[in-house]
Amino acid sequence: MTQILEIRDLKALARRRVPKLFFDYADSGAWTERTYRANEEDFAGIKLRQRVLVDMSDRSLETTMIGQKVSMPVALAPTGLTGMQHADGEMLAAQAAEAFGVPFTLSTMSICSIEDVASVTTKPFWFQLYVMREREFVLDLIDRAKAAKCSALVLTLDLQILGQRHKDLRNGLSAPPRLTPKHLWMMATRPGWCMKMLGTNRRTFRNIVGHAKSVADLSSLQAWTNEQFDPQLSWKDVEWIKERWSGPLILKGILDPEDAKMAAKTGADAIIVSNHGGRQLDGAHSSISMLPRDQIEVHLDGGIRSGQDVLKAIALGAKGTYIGRPFLYGLGALGKEGVTLALDIIRKEMDTTMALCGKRRITEVGRDIIAE
Ligand SMILES: Cc1cc2nc3c(=O)[nH]c(=O)nc-3n(C[C@H](O)[C@H](O)[C@H](O)COP(=O)(O)O)c2cc1C
Repeated sequence: MTQILEIRDLKALARRRVPKLFFDYADSGAWTERTYRANEEDFAGIKLRQRVLVDMSDRSLETTMIGQKVSMPVALAPTGLTGMQHADGEMLAAQAAEAFGVPFTLSTMSICSIEDVASVTTKPFWFQLYVMREREFVLDLIDRAKAAKCSALVLTLDLQILGQRHKDLRNGLSAPPRLTPKHLWMMATRPGWCMKMLGTNRRTFRNIVGHAKSVADLSSLQAWTNEQFDPQLSWKDVEWIKERWSGPLILKGILDPEDAKMAAKTGADAIIVSNHGGRQLDGAHSSISMLPRDQIEVHLDGGIRSGQDVLKAIALGAKGTYIGRPFLYGLGALGKEGVTLALDIIRKEMDTTMALCGKRRITEVGRDIIAE
């Protein structure tokens, strides 16, 4: 096996170990995937200032996100179907994040439930909420997140209707996978994945099945989203959600300056500048090109593939960042250890880059490390 030195290596290994339909689910954007690509490419265009003969000893990446201490400003983004990249994926990723000292965000569309993740962690994690038409179910989700002592609610605003990802349609994505010859082949060629999946009973959307009344068949994500997600979600809804939750609230999926202003007015604790990893509005700007935003604490996700990318986002005004695919690739490649490895790769790259830019503390990093 080749040495794993960067996120790209984890991606290559995940491709070999995860059935095609789930690997593709992670590695895809909407339509032409232009925004998905731009998220990564626009980081490369930002240049850093190399500084010398400054004290580089005693460096620290510690900071806070929404006032909560983090060992580095990188949280795990909420991702659906994570338990299909690897058996019990959400539980393993949450444990890796906890040990690393960074937040884990559990998606509404996860395989392992809020309660599953709470049962294997000792510190609070974050919960991401999608708003469905069935309000009773939404209220119940909020209450379950409270009962599990989640320390932030991440309300996603940019997926009330589902962007089309061609690969998912071509692959016939579902969880659990259907047992057609094509799907059986995709799984049979990944025996390690199958063995682990046979060893768990967590193979469907456990936050939803048995909780939402009107859920009969979740196998078609597209059909279910069309039916259940509320396309009339509005700023007014943010108010009652905030009230019911009554804890730290983060609004995810803000890209436009006008929306950032509106978000600041809601009294939320932070926004995530995000285009859902290029999975929704193809043709939208990359996340990094939409910084800075200054009315409210700003986080960013989309396209982060190295510690340098994190540093650039921080320099341009983000207080924290999130990684989606990098940790999914780690998980698919090597399970919990792979998530830790992904975080460690990013930590080391960030630390070295910060030093070479002449800074010792992440809290001192600002625009002055960016070359004009
Ligand atoms: C496979 C996958 C599933 C995702 N599912 C969700 C989800 O359930 N809820 C959500 O708010 N965002 C979801 N996202 C978006 C991520 O939270 C995040 O915005 C995005 O992955 C960041 O881009 P990156 O993957 O380039 O780091 C998903 C992203 C991926 C790749």
